[in-house]
Amino acid sequence: MTIALNLPLNPNAGIPHYTAHGNECALFESAWSRQLPILLKGPTGCGKTRFVRHMAARLGLPVSTVSCHDDLTAADLTGRYLLKGGETVWVDGPLTKAVREGGVCYLDEIVEARKDVAVVLHPLTDDRRLLPLERTGELIEAQSSFMVVVSYNPGYQNLMKSLKPSTRQRFVSIEFDFLPRDREIAAVSIESGLAESRVAPLVDLARRLRTLKGQDLEEGVSTRLIIYCATLVDAGMPLVEAVRAAIIEPLTDEADVKAALVEVAAATLGR
Ligand SMILES: Nc1ncnc2c1ncn2[C@@H]1O[C@H](COP(=O)(O)OP(=O)(O)OP(=O)(O)O)[C@@H](O)[C@H]1O
Ligand SMILES: [Mg+2]
Repeated sequence: MTIALNLPLNPNAGIPHYTAHGNECALFESAWSRQLPILLKGPTGCGKTRFVRHMAARLGLPVSTVSCHDDLTAADLTGRYLLKGGETVWVDGPLTKAVREGGVCYLDEIVEARKDVAVVLHPLTDDRRLLPLERTGELIEAQSSFMVVVSYNPGYQNLMKSLKPSTRQRFVSIEFDFLPRDREIAAVSIESGLAESRVAPLVDLARRLRTLKGQDLEEGVSTRLIIYCATLVDAGMPLVEAVRAAIIEPLTDEADVKAALVEVAAATLGR
């Protein structure tokens, strides 16, 4: 008798595409299996969020993502008492839910969060793996599959903001940069549907513009923007218009800088 297994034809189905920079996938897997938290740092649009989604899907873990901002407090993560039908009931926040149920709790732009967030993260991100809930009097031990991942962009806007050493030193850290040329071309082609031969000049342009970071530009062209541009071209938009809308305009508001970028684009793309 043959037993029909309902295996998906493509073993990667449902796993978001991710082109690796180096050994980060193995590093993530080892850290998760040994219950170590991870910190990701790198410029905007270089693949940090995609990496977390990819790894969580590979490991079969749910991800709960919190975008931190300067009003985010510990209570937003842990939970609070709410009035429901005349009664006060405790409602778990995303962190508490993940601690109880397991999976990845991903805190994006962690440097933005209020200082009291570090207080709840500390006992969770060292070998205790505990979440004390003062309001309910509970002390919750994290599920074995629970993992904290935090990320931030150490760019210009965060110069004044940084994590305390006692927080930083609780995480295995991975620094991200943009992919090497060939891999970035491959990734942009997969994401946009545009052929690699047509993506290559866009990646070359982006790499050239990245060298202007710190002089005329605050940030380099992200992989995200190259994908936007390639997607517009794939949809039939003329190259020059796509480059202007998806690469040049998002980079700067200054007319003279924009004009200089248009020139670099014309020289690189040969038109
Ligand atoms: N290495 C990569 N593999 C596959 N896709 C990538 C990769 N890097 C970037 N991308 C693509 O670029 C987009 C932006 O990446 P992502 O959202 O992960 O950036 P980020 O580093 O989290 O940026 P931010 O700091 O602004 O949140 C993704 O939607 C994905 O399409
Ligand atoms: Mg992100």
